[in-house]
Amino acid sequence: MTTKDEKYMQLALDLAASAKGNTNPNPLVGAVIVKNDIIVGTGLHRKAGEPHAEVHAFRMAGEHAQNATLYVTLEPCSHFGKTPPCANLVKDSGVSRVVVAMQDPNPTVAGRGIQLLRDAGITVEVGVLEQQARRLNERFIHNMLTKRPFIISKFAMTVDGKIATHTGHSKWVTGKAAREDVHRIRHEVDGILVGVGTVIADNPSLTTRLSEGYGKNPTRIIMDSLLRTPLDANVLNTEEAPTILVCSNDVSQEKIDLLINKGLTVLPIEKDERGLNIDEMLARLYEHGITDILLEGGSKVNASFLQQGAIDKYVIYIAPKVLGGNLSLTPFAGSNPSLMNEAWQVEFASFDKIGEDLCIIAYPKQGEEN
Ligand SMILES: NC(=O)c1ccc[n+]([C@@H]2O[C@H](COP(=O)([O-])OP(=O)(O)OC[C@H]3O[C@@H](n4cnc5c(N)ncnc54)[C@H](OP(=O)(O)O)[C@@H]3O)[C@@H](O)[C@H]2O)c1
Repeated sequence: MTTKDEKYMQLALDLAASAKGNTNPNPLVGAVIVKNDIIVGTGLHRKAGEPHAEVHAFRMAGEHAQNATLYVTLEPCSHFGKTPPCANLVKDSGVSRVVVAMQDPNPTVAGRGIQLLRDAGITVEVGVLEQQARRLNERFIHNMLTKRPFIISKFAMTVDGKIATHTGHSKWVTGKAAREDVHRIRHEVDGILVGVGTVIADNPSLTTRLSEGYGKNPTRIIMDSLLRTPLDANVLNTEEAPTILVCSNDVSQEKIDLLINKGLTVLPIEKDERGLNIDEMLARLYEHGITDILLEGGSKVNASFLQQGAIDKYVIYIAPKVLGGNLSLTPFAGSNPSLMNEAWQVEFASFDKIGEDLCIIAYPKQGEEN
């Protein structure tokens, strides 16, 4: 049974979720103020640099905030960022009770906002719909704890697990509705990453094309050790979206300058036995302000992320098609384990039918390396 606290927290979570794709690097936050079972204020954090959810909710509630309950999906902040600390605002607002879904993982907050409110004599309850709140802010939590972008591995495959035919042909594995769903995710992330193999095989644009026309383009990131991306490749058209080419740090400066002069960003990094060093690349991309990445393959790049333990979430589309044969590409290249217990373990979180295809959301199994 849903309690009243859960009902109002769910509303706050729904408000927060409506800003998906717009708040990076900040978290998604929603707030609801309730007095005598009547909602007197609502708010959400819409965009980094703009007021926090609590500010909007208190503006709406005005004097009705006196002795009311504030429901907020993330602990009110206790530090000065681009805006003043919300915990002070809450303390001075007159609310008598605050219900928080989860503590802020940001080390500069991490419980201090809650403590400040308790010290002011306000009743604070923490943990209502916490699991949902953690899922909603999975990207932010990961950023705070690792200082790396959150990696979403997306692939589309046939029922027998093929992402392309043996010739590399892959247009299209899934139907229109599933492909539209991918564009919705592209709109929500900062970066989209593929290997140079995919650029050469498919010449993708890697832009966001939603049927209603709206959608922002993520930064395109290409793993290309030797900078062999063709100069007329769609991903090098920077009028559409920014592109970062990640290459080996022994590539000639002349080659790099040619691309920089075309308006591209080139990121030279170390190589290891798999190719470009994934951890160094992710650290550098995070410094560039990339907080989450949609990893769109192909098989070799996917395999390197898997082996590095760098995949944080899977979005798997399964088309009602069987290709057969054993020469077609599968989502992950790499080593060939001999035993089932060598498999990487995942946990299915949800599944949906999108048009004629299935979409499974999965996460690396907790306690497993990946
Ligand atoms: N159905 C789907 O969801 C889907 C999605 C994407 C792609 N595809 C298909 O996948 C195929 C391409 O896949 P692919 O496996 O051949 O190529 P890929 O994974 O796109 O690119 C591999 C290349 O990336 C470069 N690279 C640099 N650092 C790397 C590292 N650490 N690990 C791995 N690669 C690294 C390497 O080239 P350098 O050594 O030159 O740097 C490597 O050969 C195409 O046929 C495409 O249609 C299907």
